[in-house]
Amino acid sequence: MLDALDVVILAAGKGSRMRSQTPKVLHALAGRPMVSHVLETAQALNPSRTHVVIGHGADRLRTALEGADVHFALQAEQKGTGHAVAQTLEQLGQGKVLVLYGDVPLIRRDTLAGLLARVDEQHLGLLTVTLTDPHGYGRILRNDAGEAVAIVEQKDASAEQLTINECNTGIMAMTSAQLKRWLPQLSAENAQGEYYLTDVIAMAANEGVSVTTAQPATPLEVEGVNNRAQMARLERAYQAELAEQLMDQGVALADPARIDIRGNLTCGHDVSIDIGCVFEGDVELGEGVHIGPYCVIKNSTIGAESVVDSHSVIDTVVAAGLNQVGPFARLRPGTRLAVNAKVGNFVETKNTDVGEGSKINHLSYVGDAHLGRGVNVGAGTITCNYDGANKHLTTIDDNAFIGSNTALVAPVTVGKGATVGAGSTIAKDVADHALAVTRSRQLEKPDWPRPEKTA
Ligand code: UD1
Ligand code: CA
Repeated sequence: MLDALDVVILAAGKGSRMRSQTPKVLHALAGRPMVSHVLETAQALNPSRTHVVIGHGADRLRTALEGADVHFALQAEQKGTGHAVAQTLEQLGQGKVLVLYGDVPLIRRDTLAGLLARVDEQHLGLLTVTLTDPHGYGRILRNDAGEAVAIVEQKDASAEQLTINECNTGIMAMTSAQLKRWLPQLSAENAQGEYYLTDVIAMAANEGVSVTTAQPATPLEVEGVNNRAQMARLERAYQAELAEQLMDQGVALADPARIDIRGNLTCGHDVSIDIGCVFEGDVELGEGVHIGPYCVIKNSTIGAESVVDSHSVIDTVVAAGLNQVGPFARLRPGTRLAVNAKVGNFVETKNTDVGEGSKINHLSYVGDAHLGRGVNVGAGTITCNYDGANKHLTTIDDNAFIGSNTALVAPVTVGKGATVGAGSTIAKDVADHALAVTRSRQLEKPDWPRPEKTA
C-alpha cells in the first residue's frame, strides 16, 4: 500500500529578495525554470501524483508548467510551509508523501530514493545537512540516544540551540495518513506566526514514530535560492558538473569554467570546444567536431569533422559533416548543410539547403533557397526573398557561379553550370550553362579633366 507516492513541491513563496517581477521558481537554471528541474527529478521517482503548491505568480506558474503532469494546489495566503502542504491534503493518495521545494533545484533522484526507502508507518524520513554556517536554518534537535526529536527554527531557537550545526533541508517524507493526522494539529504560535511543517517532527517523535535522517551527497543538492547571487552560484556549480561529465566522456574543453549548457549536449569522440560557448536545447556534435570560441548553438546537429569558427550563431540547423562554418556566421532555422558545404564570415542563412561542396564564403544573405552541389556564391550576394507580403524561393542548381554583389530577386532559378556576372540583379530565370549579367557597361572617357575647385 505504501508503494504509491505523492510528491508535493512548494512554490507559493514570493522570493522578494530576487527583486524581480518573475516568480522565484521560474527563474532559469541552465535555461529552464528552477521548478522544472525539481519536477523532472520528482518524475524520475515515478510518483502517482505530483502536486505543485502555488501562490505568488500562480497564473504564471500554471502557464509555465502547462502540459506537465501535475496537480496545482492554490495557497492564496502564505501562512507557512505546513499550511502550504496542507493545501494538498485532500488530493493525497494512500501511500508516502515527499515534500520538495521549487527553489531547491539541484536535489538528486538517488538522494530522494534513498530517503523514501527508509519510510514506513514507523519511520519518517528527514533530509538534514551539516553546515559550518547554519544561520537561518531550522536546527535538528536530538535526544540523548541521538534520535532526532524536533526541529527548532532559527527565530525560535535558544542561544544553545543556535550552536547546532545539523540543519533541516526542509525535504522530508512520511505516510499520507500521518500527514493527514498531523497537519491539522499545527499551531502558528511561534516567532513568525506561521504554520511550520517542521513541527511534524516533534509530533512523530511523540507518537513513537522514529525520525530517520539522511544526508545529500553534497550540500549543493539542498541549497535553496533566495537571491541572484545564490542563483548564479548554483548555475556555476551545475555547469561545472556538466562540464565534468563532458570531459569524462572525452570532450576537450578549453576551459570547463567557460561553457554553458542549457539543455542536452551530446558529443561524439574527440570533440573540442573553445571558451565561451553556449549550447541550448538539444545539440549533437559528431566525432571530431571543433567549435571555436564564443559560439551559440541551439537545437542543431553538427556532423562529424566539421569546424565552427568563432562567434557563430547556429539555430535549428542540420550540418551533415565536414562543414566549415564562420567565423561570424549566422545560420538560422531550416538551414541544412550537405557534406563539405561552407558558410563563411558575415553570412546569414535561413530555410536554405546548401548542397554538397557548395560555398557561401563571405558577406551574404541566403534565405528560402535551394543550392545544388558545387555552387559558389560570391561575396555580397543577397536573395531578395521577401516582396513585402510573401516569401519566395531561390534555386541555384549544381555548379552555378554567382558573382559578387548579386541580388537574386525570388522566385528565381539559376540553372546548372550557369554564371551570373558580379553586380547583377537577377529577376528572371537563368538557363543552364548561360551567362547572365545585368550591370550597365563601363563608360570610359580618356584623359578626362577632373573639375577644379573655384575660389
Ligand atoms: C524552511 C524550514 C527550515 C529549513 C529551511 C531550509 C520551515 C518552517 N522551516 O525555512 O527549517 O531549514 O526551510 O531552507 O519549514 N513556502 C510556501 N508557502 C508558504 C511558506 C513557504 O510555498 O506559506 C515555500 C517557499 O516558497 C519556499 C519554501 O516553502 O520555497 C520554504 O519557505 P521559507 O519561508 O523560505 O522557509 P525557511 O524560512 O527558509
Ligand atoms: Ca528559505
